Amino acid sequence: MSTPSLLILPGDGIGPEGMGEVTKVIDWFGAKRDMPFDVSEDLVGGAAYDAHGTPLHDDTMAKAQEVDAVLLGAVGGPKYDNLDFSVKPERGLLRLRKEMDLFANLRPAQCFDALADFSSLKRDVVAGLDIMIVRELTSGVYFGEPRGIFEEGNERVGINTQRYTESEIARVARSAFELAMRRNKKVCSMEKANVMESGILWREVVTEVAKDYPEVELSHMYADAGVMQLCRWPKQFDVILTDNLFGDLLSDAAAMLTGSLGMLPSASLGAPMANGRPKALYEPVHGSAPDIAGQGKANPIACTLSFAMALRYSFDKGDEATRLEKAVEQVLADGKRTADLLGEEGVQPVSTSEMGDAIIAALD
Ligand code: NAI
Ligand code: MG
Repeated sequence: MSTPSLLILPGDGIGPEGMGEVTKVIDWFGAKRDMPFDVSEDLVGGAAYDAHGTPLHDDTMAKAQEVDAVLLGAVGGPKYDNLDFSVKPERGLLRLRKEMDLFANLRPAQCFDALADFSSLKRDVVAGLDIMIVRELTSGVYFGEPRGIFEEGNERVGINTQRYTESEIARVARSAFELAMRRNKKVCSMEKANVMESGILWREVVTEVAKDYPEVELSHMYADAGVMQLCRWPKQFDVILTDNLFGDLLSDAAAMLTGSLGMLPSASLGAPMANGRPKALYEPVHGSAPDIAGQGKANPIACTLSFAMALRYSFDKGDEATRLEKAVEQVLADGKRTADLLGEEGVQPVSTSEMGDAIIAALD
C-alpha cells in the first residue's frame, strides 16, 4: 500500500496552534510506529482569503478531493466579519463539506475520568461516558427548497424546508449501522415522526436499512425526548443517528456533558473512494477562538483527538487511535490542564505546546 496522504488546513486563530501540536503527533507515529504519512499543508478560511481573495482556492479543493484525509483547524475571526457573505471564511469550510459530499458527521461525546467533575452534570451520570452522534450533514432544513424571506399579503414570511430523500436517509443510516458494528451494536434513531412527514420517512428508511444489520439493536425516539434522555442518563445510548437540524442541537448538548469545547473532535465522512477509504474531513468542534488566539492558551486536545478519529476511520488503525486517546487520558490523569480545563484552585495551566509535549511524552 502506498503511504497514506493527509492534507492539513490549519486555518485561522487557534487553528494553526492546535494543528502545530497535531503535527508533532503525526511525526511521532511516523518515527515510532512506522506509520509515515505523506503530509501537505494549505490555506483555508481567512488565511486563504488574505492570500488569494477566496476562502478556499480551487487548487486546495482539488487536493482535498485527492488525499486520504483532510485535517482542518478552524476558520474565521473578527478581521473577516465584514466581508461579503460569498467570501467569508466559513464558506471555505462549507465548500469542502459540500464538494466532498460529507454526509455523515460523527461527533463523539466521551468523558475522560479525570474531567468527570468538570461536567455540569453529576460524576455518576458522565463518568465513563462514550457515545457517538451521527448527524446527517448535507441535506435537511439547512438546504431544502423553497427557502427565503418573501412578501405575503402585507407582511414578510420566512421559509425553510425540511426535505429528505430516501437515499439521503439510507446512506447516513448505513454509516451509523457500520459504526455500531464496530462499537456496541446499538443505534437509537431520533426524529419527530409524530409531527413531521420527513420524520415518518426517516423512521421507515432507517428501519429498512436495519434489516441488513440484524445484530444491531435499533430503537427510535422523538428528538425532543432524546434531548431530555441525553441530559438525564446519557449512558443509555451508544450510537445516536439523527438529521441535520436535530443533530446540530443534540451534538451541542452532548458536547456539554463532557466539559470544554477544547476537548471535542469530529469527523465528517462521505462515500468510499476507489481505495475503499471514505472521503473524510477531521476537525475540532470549536472555532478559531479569537479571544485567546496567539497566546499559547488553546487546548490542542480537540485537534489531537480528531487525528485519532482519522487513524480509526480513514486508516483502519483503531489500536493506534486508542493508543493516542490513552495518552491524552494519561496526561489529564497526571493533572495537566490548559486554561479552559481549570476549575480547581491552585492548579497552574499549561500552554498549548506544553500540553502537546506532554501527549508526546505519554505516547513514548
Ligand atoms: P469558538 O469555538 O471559537 O470559541 C468559543 C469559546 O470557547 C471561546 O471563549 C474560546 O476561547 C473557547 N475555546 C474554543 N476552543 C478552545 C480551545 N481549543 N481551547 C481553549 N478554549 C477554547 O466559537 P466562537 O467564539 O463562537 O467563534 C469564533 C470564530 O470561530 C468565529 O469567527 C466563528 O465564525 C468561527 N467558528 C468556526 C468554526 C469552525 O471553523 N468549524 C466553528 C465555530 C465557530
Ligand atoms: Mg452547532
